[in-house]
Amino acid sequence: MKATKWWQNTAVYQIYPKSFNDTTGNGTGDLRGITEKLDYLKDLGAGALWLTPVYPSPMVDNGYDISDYTGINPQFGTLADMEELIAEAKRRDIRIVMDLVYNHSSDQHPWFIESKSSRNNAKSDWYIWRDAKPDGSAPTNWRGIFGGSAWTYCKERGQYYLHTFAEAQPDLNWENPEVRAALFAAANFWLDKGVGGFRIDAITYIKKPAVFEDGTPDAADGMVSVHTMTANTPGILDFLHEFRREVFDGHDIFTVGEANGVSVAELPDWVGENGVFSMLFEFAHVLVPYEGGECWSKMLPWPLTKLKGALSASQAGVAKEGWYPIYFENHDRARSVNYFFPHGGDTRLAAKALATILMTLRGTPFIYEGEELGMTNVKWDTIEAYDDISSHGQYELALKEGFSPAEALSFVHFNSRDNARTPMQWDTSKNAGFTTGTPWLPANENYRTINAAAEQADADSVLSYYKQIVRLRKTKPVLLDGVYEELLADNEQIYAFSRTAGNRRIVTAVNFSTEEAQLPAGFLKGVRLIGSYADAPKAALRPLEAVVYEEEVK
Ligand code: NOJ
Repeated sequence: MKATKWWQNTAVYQIYPKSFNDTTGNGTGDLRGITEKLDYLKDLGAGALWLTPVYPSPMVDNGYDISDYTGINPQFGTLADMEELIAEAKRRDIRIVMDLVYNHSSDQHPWFIESKSSRNNAKSDWYIWRDAKPDGSAPTNWRGIFGGSAWTYCKERGQYYLHTFAEAQPDLNWENPEVRAALFAAANFWLDKGVGGFRIDAITYIKKPAVFEDGTPDAADGMVSVHTMTANTPGILDFLHEFRREVFDGHDIFTVGEANGVSVAELPDWVGENGVFSMLFEFAHVLVPYEGGECWSKMLPWPLTKLKGALSASQAGVAKEGWYPIYFENHDRARSVNYFFPHGGDTRLAAKALATILMTLRGTPFIYEGEELGMTNVKWDTIEAYDDISSHGQYELALKEGFSPAEALSFVHFNSRDNARTPMQWDTSKNAGFTTGTPWLPANENYRTINAAAEQADADSVLSYYKQIVRLRKTKPVLLDGVYEELLADNEQIYAFSRTAGNRRIVTAVNFSTEEAQLPAGFLKGVRLIGSYADAPKAALRPLEAVVYEEEVK
């Protein structure tokens, strides 16, 4: 292995600032709230904190609609608060990672306000404008990722603009070199402030096809997902190499692209020495319940082998070149204990099972806030209770597909992004200790039992397990660079794999089922390093049991 980089040998912790810790009592989290919790994060073993967007924003999509790329949203604090956070984190050897949302801006960004004002202003070509079809309808039948047409009509220009996501998120025109230069300058602004890396949002959509055409409808609304029509369009890598040259090169940072639509076979073009990013968030393993695109009403029960196959394919994809960001949760996904264990069982054991995989696969583990506590989904009674824009879009789509309101709501319960956005559960005080005011989203009722304070005091808690296994990873070089091999590949109950380097071999085995799962004789050899039950398993793994063994090999 080449010289280890700092970000390969640490855990990254993702913070959703709006829901993390409120120091002002206004019901939304803030930057000072993060600074206040740095010791907690250090104790957990985090070496970097990825903050979802904290820039000025109308918050239609909770910050993924940016109206100023070099400012701080007053809701979260000031630039001085950000500088303090960066400095205080650095004192603890923790880097701050910013989220770059460069496929689109907010429709309130001054660039868009100017662009939409006429067809001949200085920024008229900064977004994707097209004429209507002869009948006045949208230029194509593309559906935006949050539902509804991906085009919105603008009467000032008498044209439509494209938005891959919400109407309030117009896509920037990367073909225009002035746009690219402005975006690169903003990223360099944050590098000068000392940030340790970037997560790059929705990056597979920045290149659009040369010709815009209707696609074959994929649902009852007669539309086709914009993803099908524009993701990973040839030519995208030219833009990205320029991005790398103008921003990333020469800095001791990491970059992780959000890359829905890039296949494992394409990874070498995207990550590593000859690629663009340090790592790429893939989607295959989190999309196992879906038939095709991410349509919430089209989910199927999935065999464990599908999840294992996706994870193994990703491991293989970066075995020689590049690096992998391991994750089960983020702000766009339901809580992993519910999502990956739809058959139920003890959620504490489920959380430990996923932690065990997260910390022993090859790559950099990403822990999402509350995952280290085993936080779970919420289940609200009405669609109105949900804030998440995509929950509303998917609910409407399900109704169009002929599902009843109750069925449509059940898809929201299982998938909603709000599941991951409820307030961080700090303690048993009102609102889970997140705010003294009224939280912008209600806390999950179970905060009285699932919370950081209680788990800190409990040696058997999910949090204690996380702390232990994050440390274990740092003391075992084989977990950093050992070769990955999947074991028991056909087994539908157990996910098992080995990591081998020199004469050390570490084996992880996790029972995903709520039944006992038989192990082949002599499968677990050597010393048990960690496990989710108090004692070692015998011939079988107990329900949801996870174990890690180390042995010496010749
Ligand atoms: C992906 C982000 O993670 C998600 O939260 C956001 O809604 C979309 N990109 C649009 O920026």
